[in-house]
Amino acid sequence: MNSTETMQPFLDKKDGYVVAVVGATGAVGETMLEILAERKFPISDIIPVASSRSAGSEITFNGKDYTVQDLAIFDPTGVDIALFSAGGGTSKAYAPKFAEAGCYVVDNSSAWRMDEDIALVVPEVNPHALEMARENHIIANPNCSTIQMVVALKPLHDTVPIERVVVSTYQAVSGAGGKAMEELAKQTAALLNGEEPEIDVFPARIAFNVIPHIDVFMDDGYTKEERKMMDETCKILESDIAVTATTVRVPVFYSHSESVNITFSGQMSANQARDLLADAEGICVVDDPSGEDYPLASEASGSDSVWVGRIRDDKSYPNSLHLWVVADNVRKGAALNAVQIAEILIRQP
Ligand code: A2P
Repeated sequence: MNSTETMQPFLDKKDGYVVAVVGATGAVGETMLEILAERKFPISDIIPVASSRSAGSEITFNGKDYTVQDLAIFDPTGVDIALFSAGGGTSKAYAPKFAEAGCYVVDNSSAWRMDEDIALVVPEVNPHALEMARENHIIANPNCSTIQMVVALKPLHDTVPIERVVVSTYQAVSGAGGKAMEELAKQTAALLNGEEPEIDVFPARIAFNVIPHIDVFMDDGYTKEERKMMDETCKILESDIAVTATTVRVPVFYSHSESVNITFSGQMSANQARDLLADAEGICVVDDPSGEDYPLASEASGSDSVWVGRIRDDKSYPNSLHLWVVADNVRKGAALNAVQIAEILIRQP
């Protein structure tokens, strides 16, 4: 049973809510708007907000044009829900102002995720954590790579507690925003035309390359992206699972893939895991070696599910399994997860 059914409502019942999308001109913001429309979120007014660079431009929502507002001078009074995806600094500076005005902020940046008092929520995994937001009105959307992994870990962990996870990611460039996608396209075209590619967003050439470096390096040799996966997984699953990660950027536009190796505290066979995953909310199992069927980034893109395959016993270690986990990082890894949280905020008993 979904534990949100017993929750008291967060917002009063209305025919439509005032929703602001902060970062509406970015890769995730645009998808937030698309998903709000697709899922027929009850909206009385939608307010696209971005920086002064794009303020005054028009965006279309449900066939109507709306003018982009400048965040620096925007008054959040009357906004019910604000979906933020405009970078950590912007969230730190502006989310509290929205929350003080009475609005619920669902923030896609890493600014608040590990704050003790802030809910870090994946609706299929820990919707009850939203209770923490009743006072402070800020909810953090986890890191994209973390979201898809915890959706896959949760049904297994509930059955036999997990002791350790070793994950390596193959992350799409859309996770780094619109400019990063342009960089992959331009570098690819340049190289195919025998020209020198320009490097701007990524630390090295991304076209026809694999970069084991996402976000900044920390003193212990991990990158911040790796640290996010390790810390956020424990916070969301409310467990001190040992997690270690290597996060890698690959020249793919959409959908992150992950090789996940799990060690359980007791026996969990590949067959049992396959059955548990097939029954779990938000997961599609594609796992047929005889038909050479497994999840692919190209097929997960544009979908709302977390796709799991290559489920097999790890022959090298007891009580251990391998999974291959793929999801659209801009949808389930960011925009969809935020909209699903907003759906819980407006849910009535
Ligand atoms: P803008 O278009 O005005 O730069 P992406 O992640 O695809 O790069 O998109 C980032 C989003 O965050 C864009 O909508 C961008 O708006 C917005 N943004 C970035 N910095 C700020 C800021 N200081 N204030 C408001 N919005 C910002």
